[in-house]
Amino acid sequence: MDISEEEKNNFYFKHIDLKYHDHEIEAFNKKFLTYKDCFLLLPIEEVKECLPSVFEWFEKNNISEVRTVCLIGHKASTNQAIHTDVMSGCLAINIFLTPESSEAVTRFYKTKDNITSGIAIGKVDDKISYNYFAKSNLDFVTCYKAENPVLLNVKQIHGIVNYTSAYRASLSFRFVEDPWHLIKD
Ligand SMILES: [Fe+2]
Repeated sequence: MDISEEEKNNFYFKHIDLKYHDHEIEAFNKKFLTYKDCFLLLPIEEVKECLPSVFEWFEKNNISEVRTVCLIGHKASTNQAIHTDVMSGCLAINIFLTPESSEAVTRFYKTKDNITSGIAIGKVDDKISYNYFAKSNLDFVTCYKAENPVLLNVKQIHGIVNYTSAYRASLSFRFVEDPWHLIKD
């Protein structure tokens, strides 16, 4: 399937029909949830053991090997700095672990001059680093709530707003090859 550069650049997010078993999420949460602000890289094999239905869905949907799995946590009433992810690849699949904070929102922006440049900081390695953006130079584009599994473009400017009274945790999968075929229906 051919996806043009323009289609890739215009892609922000899409909800996907990834189904998993709630008992798997419970087992995962018991093992890994910290209730802290975090961006933690997890051991892929251990995540796979907890969440077999997620990995089965990846296989069924011709998604290449998982490159990284990150646990992303935000405490209640927090506002993540607006950023793009610097790590390799554009696409992530995120699932949400804490239904109590399903009203938390991921907001996407574009720069007013349409030039995607930010101040690069925190470039520790290729796995965890971000470019940060000043809000005054941004226009809001779209957003989604932390409820259904989502495919998103982490190279678009984004930030999580958790104005709920609950902890928000998601699990973000990145792949050896971006599954661009999923952006089409
Ligand atoms: Fe991000």
